Amino acid sequence: MSLAQRRILLGVSGGIAAYKSCELVRRLRDLDAQVRVVMTERATHFVSPTTFQALSGQSVRVSLWDEQAEAAMGHIELARWAERILIAPASADLLARLAHGLADDLLTTLCLASAAPLYLAPAMNQQMWAHPAVQANIETLRQRGAHLLGPAAGEQACGDIGSGRMLEPHELREALVASFGGGSLAGLSVLVSAGPTYEDIDPVRFIGNRSSGRMGFAIAQAAAQEGARVTLVAGPVSLATPVGIAQRIDVRSAAQMHAAVLDAATQADIYIGAAAVGDYRPQEIATHKLKKHDGAGLSLQLSENPDILASLSAKTVHPFLVGFAAETHDVASYAQDKLRRKGLDMIAANQVGGGLGFEAADNALTLYWGDGALELPRASKPELAQQLIAQVAARYRSGRS
Ligand code: CTP
Repeated sequence: MSLAQRRILLGVSGGIAAYKSCELVRRLRDLDAQVRVVMTERATHFVSPTTFQALSGQSVRVSLWDEQAEAAMGHIELARWAERILIAPASADLLARLAHGLADDLLTTLCLASAAPLYLAPAMNQQMWAHPAVQANIETLRQRGAHLLGPAAGEQACGDIGSGRMLEPHELREALVASFGGGSLAGLSVLVSAGPTYEDIDPVRFIGNRSSGRMGFAIAQAAAQEGARVTLVAGPVSLATPVGIAQRIDVRSAAQMHAAVLDAATQADIYIGAAAVGDYRPQEIATHKLKKHDGAGLSLQLSENPDILASLSAKTVHPFLVGFAAETHDVASYAQDKLRRKGLDMIAANQVGGGLGFEAADNALTLYWGDGALELPRASKPELAQQLIAQVAARYRSGRS
């Protein structure tokens, strides 16, 4: 799912459900939407404009007569700026004013002045919602092309049970996403591996690597934002599961990751191997903690781990395969060699060191496929993940069309 760069005007009218709209702003911003909030004067009795300002990162407008705000972005400009207007909560009074075409405050004026589709999420006491006056207004607005989201039935803030509850923030967000059409990976299953693997030596020691998992997690999130059903196979990392991930499978060793990925890959259209899989594991895992023998040194016998990407590409039917190559030097030639050797559809190469790559917040990638290449310059991992996903979607679609 993505609302990247989408311009959403969120209208908030006076009702207790306004507290849920705070969460809605966060959820819209999670999908990279630009959100501007306009409140009615009555809404400010329930939630402070400061709250919405902090959450949206934009100043919040209430009045038509705010000279400073008008100078920054006039209300007509704001009406033109909006790609969607969502009013949540839409109170009985707001619905009545809209139905009658009133323009007696900023929000109703904007609704008249904008060509953007109007989405209404009513919220009120069930008796009010059932009132013929409210129902007549709803009917008028519906006939005029407004889209009605809810209300839902259930327990209400006033203690009543019935129809009139505002839809949950995630439901409203999904309705907005759907209103823009599916993302570039809509309908596809994407499998992502992320993080390091730990190869146990004894009950307290292991061989690991410095992968934080952040790039892989950002990729999983970016794929979900583009409408994919995402399965994330994670090595030992301390990262929260990103929003919108369908399934997370936690593993520790390369062998466990190999098994989990091969199993999940049967259902996947695309596999992105962002994990830093350990190449070797101790031949034996000591059952007791190894003891130090002064001066004697210690030799570990290591066996090679199976290559997950190579195992997948060896199968007759396999997902579109994207690998990573973290290199300290000769990035292009090593990456292109890996692309061919492992039978990949695309490889994302990065130079490690110099504040980039492992354990760093930023990264920079060069993508290689067939005879193509594209540089994605230094950016934060979430930004880079979105660009990578856009390229993966484009290559996947062009390969299968
Ligand atoms: N990879 C894998 N299975 C492994 C090891 C690596 O699927 N057992 C995948 C990683 O997820 C990543 C890519 O291969 O997408 C990274 O390759 P790398 O480990 O650098 O490849 P190597 O074959 O180890 O090459 P080299 O040692 O020359 O760097």
